Amino acid sequence: MAIFKKKQDLSIDNIVLPRHVGIIMDGNGRWAKKRGLPRSAGHSAGAKNFRKIIRYCSDIGIKHLTMYAFSTENWKRPDDEVQALMKLFKQYLEEALRDFQDDTIKLRFIGDITGFSPDIQSLMIDAQEGSKDRDGMVLNLAMNYGGRDELVMATKSIANKVKSGEIAVEDIDEKLISDSIYTAGQPDPDLIIRPSGEYRTSNFLLWQSAYAEYVIMDKLWPDFNFDDMNYALIEYAKRNRRFGGV
Ligand code: IPE
Ligand code: IPE
Ligand code: MG
Repeated sequence: MAIFKKKQDLSIDNIVLPRHVGIIMDGNGRWAKKRGLPRSAGHSAGAKNFRKIIRYCSDIGIKHLTMYAFSTENWKRPDDEVQALMKLFKQYLEEALRDFQDDTIKLRFIGDITGFSPDIQSLMIDAQEGSKDRDGMVLNLAMNYGGRDELVMATKSIANKVKSGEIAVEDIDEKLISDSIYTAGQPDPDLIIRPSGEYRTSNFLLWQSAYAEYVIMDKLWPDFNFDDMNYALIEYAKRNRRFGGV
């Protein structure tokens, strides 16, 4: 006798959406390996999927989306892989500047952009500058981003303000730290999605994720589709967030 499994309802029509979603785009390398392809092919497929998912998030009304594209630790990878990633970043940025004139998405970069080549840096600055007055979803692209590196940067900037007399040691509080990191002015992430099944943060939004809800999924990033996004949003909507209260 056949067993019929009821397909899960993945409609997000009546659920409360998170204001800020973070996605750790992981699994490109394994996706390529499974197909006998070079890791760079996995990154190309991942970049294609990135374009689809950001559009989808903007369409369904997510207000802030942070995509982890390249960590401060990813420079350790073989040179040809890093070069392939740089080429993909450049392609996306050129496309964003050339083709997305009527877009509503506001592009921001979080991370130390000085780590990139001058041509990539200037594309990043132009894309951020050119989209700053838009009123749609804020898309934070985490590139050369590390949560620890971000806190070092913030600590230095606060120490300099104390040194110059602009603020006193007593003025240092959680709000000042939140205002000194890359995501200043944006709400903390409510939901962080990690495809590819790893149960770790890999240095993503360390300060900001104190009370984020994590959804870990087995799908590899290039295969992560709209249904998977809906699944994560539905999981999030079911969580009981207490923030330390009762
Ligand atoms: C994520 O995929 C992309 C980046 C880190 C740039 P990976 O390249 O980490 O893929 P896996 O984890 O090796 O499968
Ligand atoms: C995290 O993935 C970084 C990005 C997705 C950009 P990694 O593949 O670098 O993380 P680890 O090495 O598995 O922790
Ligand atoms: Mg990985």
